[in-house]
Amino acid sequence: MKIFHCVIFLILCLPAMAQKKSYPARVDSLLALMTPEEKVGQLHQISSPFAATGPITPTGNFQQQIREGKIGSMLNVTGASRTRQLQEIALQSRLKIPLLFGQDVIHGYRTTFPVPLGEAASWNLQTIEQAARIAAVEASASGIHWTFAPMVDIGRDPRWGRVMEGAGEDPWLGSKIAEARVRGFQGKGLGSIASLMACAKHFAAYGAALGGRDYNSVDMSERQLRELYLPPFKAAVDAGVATLMNSFNDLNGIPATGSALLQRKILKGEWDFKGFVVSDWGSIREMQPHGFAASLEDAARIAILAGSDLDMESRAYTQHLASLVQQGKVPISLLDDAVRRVLIKKYETGIMDDPFRYCDIATEKQQFNNEVNLDAAQSIASESIVLLKNNSSVSGGSALLPLATSGQKIAMIGPLVMAKKEHLGFWSFDWPDDSARIKTVGDAVKQRLSEASDFFYARGCGLNDTDTSGFAEAVRVASQADIIVLYLGEERAMSGEAKSRSNLHLPGVQEVLAERMAALGKPIVLMLGAGRPLVFEKPAKKASAILYTWWLGTRAGDAIADVLFGKINPSGKLPMTFPRTEGQIPIFYNYLNTGRPFKNETDHNYVSAYIDLPNSPAYPFGFGLSYTQFKYGAIAVNTERPTETGTLQIAIPVTNTGKKAGYEVVQLYIRDKVASTVRPVKELKGFKKLWFEPGQTKEVTFQLTTKDLYFYANDLAYIWEPGEFVIMVGTDSDNVSSKKITWLK
Ligand code: NOJ
Repeated sequence: MKIFHCVIFLILCLPAMAQKKSYPARVDSLLALMTPEEKVGQLHQISSPFAATGPITPTGNFQQQIREGKIGSMLNVTGASRTRQLQEIALQSRLKIPLLFGQDVIHGYRTTFPVPLGEAASWNLQTIEQAARIAAVEASASGIHWTFAPMVDIGRDPRWGRVMEGAGEDPWLGSKIAEARVRGFQGKGLGSIASLMACAKHFAAYGAALGGRDYNSVDMSERQLRELYLPPFKAAVDAGVATLMNSFNDLNGIPATGSALLQRKILKGEWDFKGFVVSDWGSIREMQPHGFAASLEDAARIAILAGSDLDMESRAYTQHLASLVQQGKVPISLLDDAVRRVLIKKYETGIMDDPFRYCDIATEKQQFNNEVNLDAAQSIASESIVLLKNNSSVSGGSALLPLATSGQKIAMIGPLVMAKKEHLGFWSFDWPDDSARIKTVGDAVKQRLSEASDFFYARGCGLNDTDTSGFAEAVRVASQADIIVLYLGEERAMSGEAKSRSNLHLPGVQEVLAERMAALGKPIVLMLGAGRPLVFEKPAKKASAILYTWWLGTRAGDAIADVLFGKINPSGKLPMTFPRTEGQIPIFYNYLNTGRPFKNETDHNYVSAYIDLPNSPAYPFGFGLSYTQFKYGAIAVNTERPTETGTLQIAIPVTNTGKKAGYEVVQLYIRDKVASTVRPVKELKGFKKLWFEPGQTKEVTFQLTTKDLYFYANDLAYIWEPGEFVIMVGTDSDNVSSKKITWLK
């Protein structure tokens, strides 16, 4: 029987395996036919002139350039018919090499999912993977081969608008999410239909831009780079990511695009990455204003030598690379290596054999109104919502949320109540029928109330204006209700690329609106829509309950209403620390203790503290409440003295002591008490998201081995050191049970 299965397997798989094996050989034969100009063409990517995601450089007659084999890839071209049209032109070129179409499919294509930071708050790796999978299915049906996602930059500074595109501040969680997203986008592997090549970006350390200002410089030790900023990239590479994108920032004085350390030594050397590196938009050209390249030609030379394979929108390679090779300034072997990497991917995606396989108008149509995808988007949207507060509005009473669907009048106030497109967030596609497709939160709430007359609404003000003329109406409307649901936030275009903010308070006059509402003395549910952690201490104090809703995508309305009324018990946990005020930034949970650690709020003398602020954040990493309560017992371990080859088994009883069923994200942290390089006070090393019925106790288990204890020493040796460790398990990074153990050599 076994032999029979083997024979069948071989018959079915051999042709595909044989073909796969022949890709490098096929690429070599093709390379042998190519002129230097045709080779460079494969490394030249331009944006569609119809849509831009960066500063435009005039393109001239790009269709003619495609015909001449001078353009190998395009971005921002979508739609089966448009991509087909251009692919037909590419097939008129001498060597008939098809174009690769790339696009920023960051959190969905036709169906918009929560912004990636919001999705990360779900701590649900399966649904995160599923969201990427659905995005890949929809986008590939529109002719797209390649997404510039996932963004895996560590974000410790919420002033940086691009934190919305990542998975937050933690390298361990960030790595798991990076893997999940790569798996989701690439599906069963390049070549299987509905797979998108993924692109881990921005390599590297872009998230550490000075002052949180986009595109700014980064200066950090290689130790910190390797320990905090590189792990999600390494995880993506290990998960088989097809491409990486380099970053705009300089790192210790060397622009990442021109960094041989990053691209040649670490990525293609130590990690043996076989895919290709695309520059960021114009980042080769930008080495001139950096003051690192004297001319565009110089920039082209530096970039190719450093390992940037494909030039997005700099026109540096197309203008100078062939002559640089001719002059002997760039070895032909490096040009060939870059072209080989790109062509291998063209083979692996299957477009060399079937250039039109992604642009099928019938499949595109089919994917355009897929209810199953929308339902999935709703489910992850509701899992991404974080409950930050849930007190009673009267002393001794029960928690304000969830709301009842009858018996009380609800006034929904604020600029986001009837918003539609705002929920799509930055990096989303505006479809002409969006306004018909997207249900507002206000409408979703109204639908769930048994009496429509219990619903009241006033906008109050815009998201970012100075006009208070709507306040009187808001006060009049709210006065008639029993409960005020106040929905405030930032504009969708306030977080994302080039959207750094120095002031993270609610923009415009929204805080004033919140004060007016609070003055009415009614219970307030505060909801906040944003792409990043905002600062909202004042309105938070006046609210009995707070829901952080990020930007949740196409199905935001229903997802939020389901949580408000308790159909869904919220389970999101913050993937970033929320500061009390901008002055605390950067603030993160895995800090070093210092020699003079903070003691308490009143004793600020000669300790590492601000004299005018507590050290603690507004909400810690990993924080999020539920409509039920969880009690953590004591940690039990199989041994208090594990050895080098041993496994530490950790168990902790967790009980749902409340009346509702729900998920809890049980988090495991460690602290290496004394080491040759100072270690963080906590490091996330595991989590489990588990469902608990009311009254149910589960023994939650984790395992650690010395693999989990490794760190980079000052001399960059990757080591672990025996000694005392604190094991911590809890509901968030601030609220843990702990146990000391000693790890023996
Ligand atoms: C610049 C952004 O930094 C990058 O993330 C994006 O993929 C490209 N533009 C293309 O839109």
